[in-house]
Amino acid sequence: MDVHESIEDLRAGLRSRPHPVVLVPTMGALHEGHLSLVRAARERAGAAGTVVVSIFVNPSQFAPHEDFDAYPRPLLQDLDLCRSVGVDVVFTPAREVMYAPDASVRVLEEQLSQGLCGRSRPHFFSGVCTVVAKLFHIVQPEAAVFGEKDFQQLAVIRRMVRDLAWPIDIIAAPIVREPDGLAMSSRNQYLDAESRRQAVVLHQALQRAREAVLGGARNPQALREQVVAEIQGAPLARIDYVEVVDPDALTPLPSIANQVLIALAVRFGSTRLIDNLCLRKLPA
Ligand code: PAF
Repeated sequence: MDVHESIEDLRAGLRSRPHPVVLVPTMGALHEGHLSLVRAARERAGAAGTVVVSIFVNPSQFAPHEDFDAYPRPLLQDLDLCRSVGVDVVFTPAREVMYAPDASVRVLEEQLSQGLCGRSRPHFFSGVCTVVAKLFHIVQPEAAVFGEKDFQQLAVIRRMVRDLAWPIDIIAAPIVREPDGLAMSSRNQYLDAESRRQAVVLHQALQRAREAVLGGARNPQALREQVVAEIQGAPLARIDYVEVVDPDALTPLPSIANQVLIALAVRFGSTRLIDNLCLRKLPA
């Protein structure tokens, strides 16, 4: 496995690597969820293709009050994990490699990024689009893999790629969960024992919502209230948002027809967790 810190070295290393090249952008602190993205990348690349993982905690997607400094950076452990799942190339740029001190260009998506996480983290999606655009230009992959836990991020990146006509397939990988249902996240390690115990409520609330919708519930407001009430049953949970939206437009649904996304962000102490449930092809 090659590890490159500079854009020049990475480009030189990739010149001799076979195509297709499939990229998995990450911020490190890798867990089983990331490894599932790598497996999806390998499936797309085939045994002969090249799987590239980038590890970069991207400052431009954090607001000043957020956890950029505290974000875990277990690089040696991450490299071992990459090796263990057969990654070919890892790109670990320093901040100065990705951003010149006077960097002044940002990539903005102006529709899908407005609601949900974009409302409470207004800087977030322009930071993600900017860094992912740059990674795409550096690596020039045929495909890239993103997790469905960050459903809105996936939608925004698909839109960026479509609108800028980049020849890159965006592959969605399903949410990977802990045995009790909590969606895997690098931020789960911030949770104290009691918050970790209560955080399972997010998955439970989404599971009940799934049962309700599959049982015929079609009123978005009532569904939202059900999810909110369930989460509020966990004393440490502080809801940032719970929304029932169309999974393509990410806008509120007047009524549920054949598809629905229930997306949520909830804080336990200073740790903000996200999760979602997307149901498509619902019977009328
Ligand atoms: O999902 C993430 O880990 C990050 O937002 C990403 C896509 C690597 C961009 O920094």
